[in-house]
Parts: sequence; C-alpha cells; structure tokens
Amino acid sequence: MKNNIYVTQPSLAPLNDFVDLLQDTWDTGILTHNGPLVRKLEADLCKTLNIEHLSVVTNGTVALQMAIKALELKGEIITTAFSWVATISAIKWEGCTPVFCDIDEDTFNIDIKKIEGLITDKTVAIMPVHVFGNPCDVNAIEIIAKKHGLKVIYDAAHAMGSKINGSSLLEFGDISATSFHGTKLFNTAEGGACITKSLDLSKKLERIRFFGHDDNKDIVEDGFNGKMTEIHAALGLANLKYYSDVLDDREVKYKKYKSELCQIEGIGFQKLSMGEINFSYFPIVLKSEVMLLKIESLLNENNIYPRRYFYPSLNHLSQIVDYQECPVSESLSTRILCLPLYKSLTDNELMRIVRLIKRCF
Ligand SMILES: Cc1ncc(COP(=O)(O)O)c(C=O)c1O
Repeated sequence: MKNNIYVTQPSLAPLNDFVDLLQDTWDTGILTHNGPLVRKLEADLCKTLNIEHLSVVTNGTVALQMAIKALELKGEIITTAFSWVATISAIKWEGCTPVFCDIDEDTFNIDIKKIEGLITDKTVAIMPVHVFGNPCDVNAIEIIAKKHGLKVIYDAAHAMGSKINGSSLLEFGDISATSFHGTKLFNTAEGGACITKSLDLSKKLERIRFFGHDDNKDIVEDGFNGKMTEIHAALGLANLKYYSDVLDDREVKYKKYKSELCQIEGIGFQKLSMGEINFSYFPIVLKSEVMLLKIESLLNENNIYPRRYFYPSLNHLSQIVDYQECPVSESLSTRILCLPLYKSLTDNELMRIVRLIKRCF
C-alpha cells in the first residue's frame, strides 16, 4: 500500500537510466552468458570498491554455494545462528554441516573466543557473517583459520560499502559472498557476487557459474548455472551511478535515529567493532520480547512495518538443523527490531517513527 512504511524500499535509479542501458541488449539479442553488461558491471564494481576480482552471480545464496564449491569443502563449517536462513541452506546444499558458534552480544558477529572450542577433525571452514555490515574481527579469524588449516568464507551479504583500514570488507577471507538483492544497499533486483584476492580462485568461480566451462567451452569443472543476466546487470549499472548517494543518505538517517533514540533508557544498539560500517540497517535492541511486541504493534497500527531481523535464531529451525545451544543469539533474536531505513524515507516519517517508539516507554 502506498502510504505504508516498510523496513526498506529498493534504491532504484531513474527508470530512463535503466531503459537506455537496455537498448544495446535489444539490438544484439544478448541476454545472458557473461555478456557485455555483466562484464561492465564487474569492472565498474571492482573500480568502485577498489578490489581486483569480483564475479557476479544470480543471488547471494548461490554466491555462498559457489564459494563452498570452489574451495572443495566437505565437512563441518562453523557459522552463526544469528543470520538469514540462506547461510545454512547454502552450507547444507553443498553437502556440508553447519556448526553454530554463538555471537558476541555487542557486535552481533561470531564470538571469536568460542570458535576454537568447536573445531573437530571434521571442521573444514569458518563462515562468519558481517551482521548488518558490521565488520567481523577478520584478523582474529584469520589467525584461528591459519592455525587449524581452515578456509574462511565470509557471508558478506550486508557488507558492500563497509571497510577496514580503507579496504573494502568484501576483500577478506578466502572468498566473500555478497548479495545484490532488492533489499540491499546496492541491488540488481536479484543478484550477488563472489570476491577473492586469488586469480586462480576467481577463474574457477567463473567456470563454476557457467556449467564448469573453460574458455574453450570444454566442461572441466563441477559447475552449475550461476550466471547473472544482462537485464539484471543493466539494473546494477544504472543503480551503481547513485550508490554513493545511497550510502551517504543511510549514514545521515542512521545517525539521526541514533541521536534521538539513545536518550531512551531501555534501547540498545549494535556496537560497531572495527573499521567502518555502511549504515545499511538500523537495529534496536529491547530489554524484552514483550517490549519489542509493544513497539511493533504500535508501529503496525500506524502502518509502519519494521522487521524482526534475525528471528528466529537459526538453531531453532528444527526442520533444517539439529538444535545446538547459542544462548546469546537466541536471546538477541527475540529482542531485536530493524527500523525503516531507505533513501525515500522522509525526515518527517523518521521523526514520526521515533515519537511512536518514545511513546512506548
Ligand atoms: C546474511 C545473509 N546471507 C545470505 C543472504 C542471501 O542473499 P540472497 O537473498 O541474495 O540469496 C541474505 C539475504 O538476503 C542475508 O541477509
């Protein structure tokens, strides 16, 4: 509905920018198979993010699966339960077993002190999530991985735009997998990418996403179809022009929410750990689920729809995984609410949300 305020709205370039880019596609009839727009999007993303290798794919879940395939992992992968279900479905679809490490209650990221206790002779990798774009402690994770001979794949679905010491957060780990879903800061409607510093791995990822073809069209790899279409790449190229405006706008709104809500005893915030966050989400943490439900229902009565990200904690998904205890993730997931945050959210709307929340205390 038109006047409803949702947790997010896609950041979209003016329609004409998109349509103009499609003219060549209509003329040439090249819709897919790593066409010119896909290649241009990859080059422009590398330039924007100052990174070397990036392979765009159909979505972020496939990007995670491709990372596991490319590293030829079979066994247990240590990850967290405070994430979107795609993190564990990717692990399971690749025939591996997710093992849940609890999170840090302040940063919401993997608790690095608890990783080593979970390593067994079946462990092959660590797959931490940069939750809401907040950088994980990449240095500590690298030290643990090296010590135990493990690979690191970052679920970097939220991480485009975040940085550590000026470098894109997408550059860390053996492979980072990001998402360009419509809800993300930068979107191609559906889409994602694998990022790696290794040229060999990047070539392998390109073969995997194209049925395992090498440059001579021989099948040399156990691949599948992870190709992004030219239509999605065109949307990405159109949206990329406005990406830095989107980033700046989020920061302003994030800071506005925080300066208003930090005055309230009873609301907590994500602690920014290291590096620079992209301000892509605005989560608030309440003291109890009762308080969360009170705020959610008052906002809903006013046609405002925040989202309970991430709820439930993934270790509770009994259809998918066996229960493993993660008390911090379980507690946080019942008390956390992401507030509306997007480019066209007006100042008046933001202040209305703030006033309604204040009324609950
Ligand atoms: C943490 C996390 N991982 C993975 C994904 C999967 O990305 P996609 O929706 O592009 O498949 C998402 C979100 O959508 C996510 O939030």
